Amino acid sequence: MSNVRNVIILCLLTVPSWCRLDEDMTYSSLSNNCVREHCFHQPAEACPSPESKCRCQKLRYCEIAAVCCNVNKFQLTEGLACANISGNGHVEALHIRNASLDILNVEDWRKLKYLKYMTITDGQINSVVGEFAKHTTVSCLNLSSNGIVNFENRSLVNLYNLTFLDLSHNNLSAVPRFKKDGNVTLDISANGNMLCLNLFDALQRTELHFSNINNSFCFFPKTFHWFNSTEFVPLTQVIGIHELRKDCRKNCTCEPSRLDIVSGKQPTISVAVNCSGQNWISLPTPLPANTFALNVSNNNITTLELFSSDPTYQNLRELYADNNQITSILPLEGSQFLSNFVILSLRNNKLKSLPTYIFSNILDRNNFRYLKLGLNKLQCDCNTAKLLKVWLLTKQKNIPDYEEIYCDNMETKVISLNPSKLCQTQQDWTDYIYYIITVEVILLVGLIAKVVYDYCVFKTSGYLPWPASKMPKLPCDWLCE
Ligand SMILES: *[C@@H]1O[C@H](CO)[C@@H](O)[C@H](O)[C@H]1NC(C)=O
Ligand SMILES: *[C@@H]1O[C@H](CO)[C@@H](O)[C@H](O)[C@H]1NC(C)=O
Ligand SMILES: *[C@@H]1O[C@H](CO)[C@@H](O)[C@H](O)[C@H]1NC(C)=O
Ligand SMILES: *[C@@H]1O[C@H](CO)[C@@H](O)[C@H](O)[C@H]1NC(C)=O
Ligand SMILES: *[C@@H]1O[C@H](CO)[C@@H](O)[C@H](O)[C@H]1NC(C)=O
Ligand SMILES: *[C@@H]1O[C@H](CO)[C@@H](O)[C@H](O)[C@H]1NC(C)=O
Ligand SMILES: *[C@@H]1O[C@H](CO)[C@@H](O)[C@H](O)[C@H]1NC(C)=O
Ligand SMILES: *[C@@H]1O[C@H](CO)[C@@H](O)[C@H](O)[C@H]1NC(C)=O
Ligand SMILES: *[C@@H]1O[C@H](CO)[C@@H](O)[C@H](O)[C@H]1NC(C)=O
Ligand SMILES: *[C@@H]1O[C@H](CO)[C@@H](O)[C@H](O)[C@H]1NC(C)=O
Ligand SMILES: *[C@@H]1O[C@H](CO)[C@@H](O)[C@H](O)[C@H]1NC(C)=O
Ligand SMILES: *[C@@H]1O[C@H](CO)[C@@H](O)[C@H](O)[C@H]1NC(C)=O
Repeated sequence: MSNVRNVIILCLLTVPSWCRLDEDMTYSSLSNNCVREHCFHQPAEACPSPESKCRCQKLRYCEIAAVCCNVNKFQLTEGLACANISGNGHVEALHIRNASLDILNVEDWRKLKYLKYMTITDGQINSVVGEFAKHTTVSCLNLSSNGIVNFENRSLVNLYNLTFLDLSHNNLSAVPRFKKDGNVTLDISANGNMLCLNLFDALQRTELHFSNINNSFCFFPKTFHWFNSTEFVPLTQVIGIHELRKDCRKNCTCEPSRLDIVSGKQPTISVAVNCSGQNWISLPTPLPANTFALNVSNNNITTLELFSSDPTYQNLRELYADNNQITSILPLEGSQFLSNFVILSLRNNKLKSLPTYIFSNILDRNNFRYLKLGLNKLQCDCNTAKLLKVWLLTKQKNIPDYEEIYCDNMETKVISLNPSKLCQTQQDWTDYIYYIITVEVILLVGLIAKVVYDYCVFKTSGYLPWPASKMPKLPCDWLCE
C-alpha cells in the first residue's frame, strides 16, 4: 500500500517538472550541438543552394538554427517567411550572410523573440537603427564585416543578456551603448574610423573585455590638443590610460593629454596629472608613467628639488605650480625638465631671485617655451634694475606675464625699476673707493720721496734727519750694516 502511494506521490512530483525539463532540454541540447562556443557562425557552404527558391533555410540537423544568404531587404523578409523563421518558428540562432541593406532596423527583429544568437556578417550595411525590444534575449551579436558606418546610440541598450558583441571589420567611429552591468566581450578590431576619445567614453560606461585586442586600434582627431596629425594608437594603450585614470595618484586626476610619436615605436599616450589644491608641502612622487604635464597649483609646496633627482620627473614638459611657497628655481638647474620644458608656471610663489643664467641657453634655442613668474616679489637692487629688467624685456615672448613681477623691498614692478636712481648710492660708494686709492697713492709717493730725501741728506751731511735718527735699533738693522 505504502509503496503504491509513494509511486503516486513520486509521479505527481516529477511529471510536471520532467515535462518542463524535456522542453528545455530539447532546445538547449540542440543549441549546444549547433552553436559552438558562445556565438553562432555558419560557413558559406551552409547557405541554401542557388537554385533554391527560398534564400533562408533551417539547418537540417538543428531546427532552431537558420541561415540566410545573399539577400537584400525584400529577399530577407521573404526568406525569413518561406523558411518558417519569422512566423511562429522557434529559431534561436540565425546567421545572415552577405546582406545588402542600406539600413538595418533592429526593430524588424522583434518578431524573432527566441533569438539568442544573431549573426549578420560579410555584407554591406550602412547604418544600424532602431532599438531591440526589451524582452530580447540575444546574448551574442555578431555584426562583423559589413562596413557599418553609423550605429544608433540606443540600438543595443535593451540587450540585457548580451555577452558577446563582434563589431570587427566595420567603419565605426564609436562603440554603441549597451547595458550597464555585467561583462561584455567586445571585438572592435579593424574599424578604421574608431576614435580613441569615444573608446574612453565606452570604457567609462561599461566594463569591457576585448577580444582580438592586438588588432584593435583607434585614432585621435587632428584637433586633439596641439598634435596636428592623426595616428593609430593600439587599443592596449587606451586601456592602459583608462586604468591609470581610474587609479591615478591619490587625490590627483590623470587625463590623456598628448600623443608621443617616436619613429619605429608604437605611439604612446601621455597623461596630464592634476593634483591641485591638496595643501601638500612637497611635490608628489612617483608620477604615473608617461606624465607629460603636472599641475600642483594651490598647494604649499616649498621646493622643486625632486626635479633633478626623481626619475619619474624626467618626461615632464609642463609644470603648473602657481600659488605655492616655492622659494627658488635653482633646483631645476641641470635637470632634464629644464632643457625640455614647454611650460613652467610659478606664478604667485615666494621666489626671491631669478638666476637668469640657468635659462639663457634654453630660451634662446626655442621660442615656444613659456615661463610664468608673475606675482612673485623679488629682492631688488641695482643688478635687478640693470640686468634682470633688460632680460625680462628681451624675453617678453617667453614670459608673457613679465610685467607682473614685483620687488619685495620696494613698492614697484621689476620692469619699472629705474637703474640710474637705484644704482646712485652704489655710484657714491665706488667714488669713495677711488678717493681712498688716490690718498694711498699720494702717501706712497710721499714715503718714497722722504726715503730718497733721507738718503741724500745722509750721503751729504752724514746724519739721518728726523724721524729716522730717533728710530730705535731694530733686530734687522744688522742687514743694513
Ligand atoms: C552577395 O549578394 C549579392 C546579391 O544580393 C550577389 O550579387 C553577390 O555575388 C554576393 N556576394 C558574394 C560574395 O557572395
Ligand atoms: C513552422 O514552425 C512551427 C514550429 O516549429 C510549426 O508548428 C509550423 O508547422 C511550421 N510551419 C511550417 C509552414 O512549416
Ligand atoms: C563573427 O563573424 C566574423 C565574420 O564572419 C567571424 O570571423 C567571427 O569569428 C565571428 N565572431 C564570433 C565571435 O563568432
Ligand atoms: C549619442 O549620445 C550622446 C549622448 O548620450 C550624444 O552626445 C551623441 O550625439 C549621440 N550620437 C548619435 C550619433 O546619436
Ligand atoms: C537573460 O537575463 C535574465 C536576467 O537578466 C535571465 O533571467 C534570463 O534567464 C536570461 N536569458 C537567457 C536566455 O540567458
Ligand atoms: C570608411 O568611411 C570613410 C568615410 O567616413 C570612407 O572614406 C572609407 O572608404 C570607409 N572604409 C570602408 C572600408 O568602408
Ligand atoms: C569577463 O569575462 C572574461 C572572459 O569572457 C573574463 O576573463 C573576465 O575575468 C571577466 N570579468 C569579470 C569581472 O567577470
Ligand atoms: C598581444 O601582443 C602581445 C605582445 O605584443 C602578446 O604578449 C600577447 O600575447 C598578444 N595577445 C594576444 C591575444 O595575441
Ligand atoms: C603641424 O603642421 C604644420 C603645418 O601645418 C607642420 O609644419 C608641423 O610639422 C606639424 N607638426 C607635427 C607635430 O606634425
Ligand atoms: C586626499 O584628500 C582627502 C580629503 O581632502 C584627505 O583626507 C586625504 O588625506 C588626502 N590624501 C592625500 C594622500 O593627500
Ligand atoms: C585641476 O583640478 C582642479 C580641482 O581639482 C580643477 O579646478 C581644475 O580645473 C583642474 N585643472 C585642469 C587643467 O583640469
Ligand atoms: C599653507 O600655507 C598657508 C599660508 O602660509 C597657511 O595658512 C596654511 O595653513 C598652509 N597649509 C598647510 C596645510 O600647511
